[in-house]
Amino acid sequence: MTRVHDGPVRVGLLGFGTVGSALADLLAARPDLELGPVAVRDLDKPRRLADPQRHLTTDPQAVIDGADVVVEVMGGVDVATDAMLAALAQDRPVVTANKAALAERWEAFLPALHAGRIHFEAAVMAGTPAVLPVAGPLRGSAPTELHAILNGTCTFVLQRLEEGVGYDAAVREAQDLGYAEADPTLDVGGIDAAHKLAILARLAVDPDLGWDRVRAATRGIDALTPAVVQEAMEDGGKVQLVGSLVHEDGAWAARVRPVYLPAGHPLEGRAGAALLYRGVGGEVLLTGPGAGGTETAAAVLGDVLAAAAGRPGPAPLAAPAPAPRAARLDDLGEIDPA
Ligand code: NAP
Ligand code: HSE
Repeated sequence: MTRVHDGPVRVGLLGFGTVGSALADLLAARPDLELGPVAVRDLDKPRRLADPQRHLTTDPQAVIDGADVVVEVMGGVDVATDAMLAALAQDRPVVTANKAALAERWEAFLPALHAGRIHFEAAVMAGTPAVLPVAGPLRGSAPTELHAILNGTCTFVLQRLEEGVGYDAAVREAQDLGYAEADPTLDVGGIDAAHKLAILARLAVDPDLGWDRVRAATRGIDALTPAVVQEAMEDGGKVQLVGSLVHEDGAWAARVRPVYLPAGHPLEGRAGAALLYRGVGGEVLLTGPGAGGTETAAAVLGDVLAAAAGRPGPAPLAAPAPAPRAARLDDLGEIDPA
């Protein structure tokens, strides 16, 4: 890691919204780290910062120049990708929570991923570890199928529909809670979950299962009616947006869609994010917070500590996981939106 100065490791932020501002709060309690420059779009917005003028800039390059570790929490694809690649070219380790940029520009990041110079735990299940487990200890348990609840906004909205709240009001509540993307249609349209599933797919089952294939197999919750959700509840189960990685017709395939989870299913009733990993080593369930400022910032901070200590980020998968010998256990069918 190239240090820009002696003393605490200086953490530069690209973005100071829900996640970036929560990360700054966590950094304030750490003597080994300090907040460096912070890039935002609008310098006039009120910020939770003691000395805004000392930190704020609109220039991502100023963040890269003035930071030991660059944290990208601005979101979006093109500007964020360019900024991260510029930071990597200047030998700065990069930490990101941005699944859209990783999923859609994976190939551009591959050299840095292979070198372990990008850390992205928060990009998949926010505060719940999923990236390091699938890219580390679970690599020994050849996968047979994966099913995951990956979008906190959808989980929250479906819960509120069950409770009789209208769809638009429920989405607004998710925005107020800091769960939703800057454009919430990415959440309810299934795109955010698809971004996360595409990353998991590359790490767990097939390095060539690209974004276009995942995107083409994605349906969101935006066409569901409250009646469908309430009917599932009356049957004792739940409607959830689930991303799955399964082996079919000789290859690994990805799918994101609303499904009916019967009572007792390992993913049923999960309030946050959840990953059900089935492999030759047995069944593993990872579950916990899937969205929110502090929850996500805590995972970002874990990555900052790893980067500052010189530990490598998760390594891409070298080759597709073998075809499973066991029959599939879960054949979660799509539910009829009407
Ligand atoms: P957010 O609240 O919308 O904040 C985005 C920040 O980036 C804002 O400070 C914005 O500046 C800044 N920004 C955007 N475009 C910029 C540009 N071109 N130049 C400079 N600054 C720019 O977003 P967030 O919820 O914190 O999410 C950040 C990232 O974390 C996203 O990739 C998101 O998918 C990911 N993530 C979020 C959560 C969550 O629960 N919120 C969980 C996991 C991952 P202004 O403040 O001036 O507008
Ligand atoms: N908008 C995302 C969600 C944030 O609702 O899950 C966490 O990645």
